Amino acid sequence: MFDRDTEGVRIELRALTKHYQGQPAPAVDHISLDIPAGELVVFVGPSGCGKTTTMKMINRLVEPTSGEIHIGGQDVLSLDPDELRRHIGYAIQQVGLFPHQTVAQNIGLVPKLLGWPADRIAARVEELLALVSLEPSTFRDRYPRQLSGGQQQRVGVARALAADPPVMLMDEPFGATDPITREHLQNEFVKLQKQLRKTIIFVTHDFEEAIKLGDRIAVLREGSHVAQYDTPAAILAAPADDYVAGFIGQDATLKRLALLRVEDITATEPLPDSHLPQVAADASLREALDLMMAHGTDRCSSPTGVLTYTALCEALGTRPSPEEVPAGDR
Ligand SMILES: Nc1ncnc2c1ncn2[C@@H]1O[C@H](COP(=O)(O)OP(=O)(O)OP(=O)(O)O)[C@@H](O)[C@H]1O
Ligand SMILES: [Mg+2]
Repeated sequence: MFDRDTEGVRIELRALTKHYQGQPAPAVDHISLDIPAGELVVFVGPSGCGKTTTMKMINRLVEPTSGEIHIGGQDVLSLDPDELRRHIGYAIQQVGLFPHQTVAQNIGLVPKLLGWPADRIAARVEELLALVSLEPSTFRDRYPRQLSGGQQQRVGVARALAADPPVMLMDEPFGATDPITREHLQNEFVKLQKQLRKTIIFVTHDFEEAIKLGDRIAVLREGSHVAQYDTPAAILAAPADDYVAGFIGQDATLKRLALLRVEDITATEPLPDSHLPQVAADASLREALDLMMAHGTDRCSSPTGVLTYTALCEALGTRPSPEEVPAGDR
């Protein structure tokens, strides 16, 4: 199988198509996409456009009508589907925990199938429960019905990560969690992915989530047609058409600010300017802008230098209008 190690491998979809029997049009119509090894690609698109069907073809829960899938250079359609699924983490939209198994048993399912010793599985379960913010001693022995929807979903994410698979398919995995838990999970996930570099396909309806998590975003139309496939920054800067612009929503500029860090654009030598509001070096430009507005000033100070409103506009490739530029900066 393609996971000699647990780092990501490339996924290639070639004219992948699914025409469900009795349906007038294919649910997925000739999608071709290259997903580089170790990248997280987010699918965004309207309900019913074929996102789940595309994912389920990759781990062969749905058999394609035609087309090809290669993972790590291997032709997925020639592999044994059960064996294949043990090497692909899958967090599904409806969670799908086994009701008669405890949380720990659900999470340990694939490691057990792979023949891990019991103590290694137990240690892994503890580690993953902590990661998804579920206190192990409280949750380990509960049954899924004794959990809230969001808690079940987090167990689903832990289960997908359990055997450290090189490929993960995540279908709206944080959809049922409240905004605070969701943000926490997103942050943990970003950190984890920085270390692990798995190849991940992640479905969401939330464009902010797509921007935060994605190395690339595939904006899909009906039939899984790819409207645009690029980095978040490139899509925000130049949406391919009105359809893509519609997904981004009104405040593309603010969203681009959320992608840039203060340390990316400030001078390297710290300036001792203690009367300015202080911002962390790894804060986003959006946070820095919030801070400037809250203090009614056009600059703030970070450990990597002073950030001005003008520099912020330049980083976006926009020009502040003359009346916006303070006299000292002209
Ligand atoms: N088993 C099935 N048999 C027939 N049609 C199906 C089947 N599963 C899905 N479809 C249809 O295929 C299309 C794509 O469905 P899919 O579940 O892939 O959409 P989706 O993009 O994941 O939507 P959502 O965002 O609502 O989850 C839809 O029109 C759906 O009704
Ligand atoms: Mg779906």
